[in-house]
Amino acid sequence: MCGIVGYIGTRPAVSILLQGLKRLEYRGYDSSGVAFVTEGGKVEICKSEGKLENIQKLLNPPGQAQLKATCGIGHTRWATHGKPTTQNAHPHRAGHVVLIHNGIIENYQELKKEIIERGHKPLSETDSELFGFLVLDEMESGLGLADSVRKTFTRLQGGNSVVVMSEKESGVVVGVRNGSPLVVANDPEGGAILASDAQPILEFTRKVIFLEHGDLVVATKDGIEVFDLVSGKKVDRKSTELDWSVDKLDKGGYPHYMLKEIYEQPTALVDTMNGILDKMSTVPFTLAQQPGIQILEQASEIHLVACGTSYYGAMEGKYWLETWARMPVHVELASEFRYRKPVFRPGSVVIGISQSGETADTLAVLREVRSHKIPTLGITNVRGSSIVREADAVFFTSAGPEIGVAATKSFTTQLMMFLMLSGHLAKKRNPGMVDELFSDLVHLPHLVALLLEDESGFRKAISSAAKALANSTGFFFIGRGYSFPIALEGALKLKEIAYVHAEGYAAGELKHGPIAMIDPSITVVVLAPKDQWRDKTVSNLEEVKARGAKILGIGTAGDHLLERLCDYWIPISQSTHESLMPFFLTPAVQLLSYDIAVLHGTDVDKPRNLAKSVTVE
Ligand code: AGP
Repeated sequence: MCGIVGYIGTRPAVSILLQGLKRLEYRGYDSSGVAFVTEGGKVEICKSEGKLENIQKLLNPPGQAQLKATCGIGHTRWATHGKPTTQNAHPHRAGHVVLIHNGIIENYQELKKEIIERGHKPLSETDSELFGFLVLDEMESGLGLADSVRKTFTRLQGGNSVVVMSEKESGVVVGVRNGSPLVVANDPEGGAILASDAQPILEFTRKVIFLEHGDLVVATKDGIEVFDLVSGKKVDRKSTELDWSVDKLDKGGYPHYMLKEIYEQPTALVDTMNGILDKMSTVPFTLAQQPGIQILEQASEIHLVACGTSYYGAMEGKYWLETWARMPVHVELASEFRYRKPVFRPGSVVIGISQSGETADTLAVLREVRSHKIPTLGITNVRGSSIVREADAVFFTSAGPEIGVAATKSFTTQLMMFLMLSGHLAKKRNPGMVDELFSDLVHLPHLVALLLEDESGFRKAISSAAKALANSTGFFFIGRGYSFPIALEGALKLKEIAYVHAEGYAAGELKHGPIAMIDPSITVVVLAPKDQWRDKTVSNLEEVKARGAKILGIGTAGDHLLERLCDYWIPISQSTHESLMPFFLTPAVQLLSYDIAVLHGTDVDKPRNLAKSVTVE
């Protein structure tokens, strides 16, 4: 979950590292640090608890050694072992060895004992620092840096990536990927850059190599060489040309990445649709041939496995797969599923959904079921992410880079992917049934754009409601049918970025317990567009209204009956197939949470305690 960046070449290393860490800050932001090699070959370390700005301040104004450095490593931390203090921040030093680490060394207690017995004195509470001492001892016994890292790394248990330097070999940076992601590229001006994901690299080149598990990379001013960690033999890794552009990595005039990414949803939906449709066909829902399609077509039941927002995406997918494709679907939380004893039947297919493609629990499920010869698929937004290796085949959403920690466009593009897959299966099983859905789907991105551009109606209604309701002591988001997963997602968004207690419920469930909580300090956000569930939801709404809750309705413009029942009202004037209403409800709950978070003054893009990719269990 931490961010790693390393550079060696001809350019000023420290500014490259700081810029890279800025791009990676979404991965972890409880402390950070950089280490750079001075002209004399010594390594200087600057680190601090708190946000990246703290080390930027410490490094300003830059000294001569810093300005001249052309080699270094940097890190943003999401604490696992030890508090987020300066002492525990990376890089860590063990004698002449300096390192950064992402992952968890599961056998750290045993290694710590051994290291202390050998006379070393670790200064931090981290597992990471221990690795440095292991490398140091190997180098002291005569091995070079790369061989020492290679020999030592095999002793680590768990998923780990490291980047290591040594004052004894100041022209070399060594990285290992084993679990946590690591991406590398040659700098076109000479040298190389390494990072936890491609974003810091895009400044220099779009040609990147996604290292495989068990790869060791040696970076020098001459570029990169990749070796197999176990055998030590050189391996050939093909580079991938990314289509993400660097301008997508900036805020583009918006005050926050999250807001920008909410507004990018129409484009992301078009891109995702285009990315999977067979462009030569005029038949609705004909998808481009790819290995995943065959697996999907042979499925007789599907298990959707995910965490967090992706889990809610899967819940929505279940409605569509059942309704349109008549496919039996089970939706599972990865962290539970991996420790259960699920029953699979002939034809069962497991689909892991993970926008980052790095979520430890989701990957563990795919690994486990695949080992039992159950066909697996992945849905992800990140090419080259670990899920590509763990699943038999992967469908890619095309949301582009999502930097706000709260998932927004990565969620709506997952919804689009589920619709495309559902439509494809439905077309095969029920030809003719899906034409109407497809013709509305084609217009959908444009309609979502119109909704987002409706400043005086939709947007104003949300900001007024947010102002009036921001201080409610708690929120319930309720909905039925297609609106239920969006209610869950709305509650999650509000919790994670505004730190306000919120719960999502199926509207019919309120009276089975939670209604006891309802009083005038509580806001109920009701998602009730005009669909087959609307009347039932309105009945549930009457029940909470009678008990004094404030009501914020999100529904179809012109639904005066519902509007009159609500204290605040967000109208959706776009009319479309009822299956597609989640694409309008989602921006409404995203923007509501965003506005409340801004009113509360939270760090919207980097909410406390969270990290974008959860690479630990
Ligand atoms: C959503 O806003 C969160 N960032 C979180 O719930 C996230 O969806 C979850 O951690 C799963 O991540 P993934 O999609 O990358 O697997």
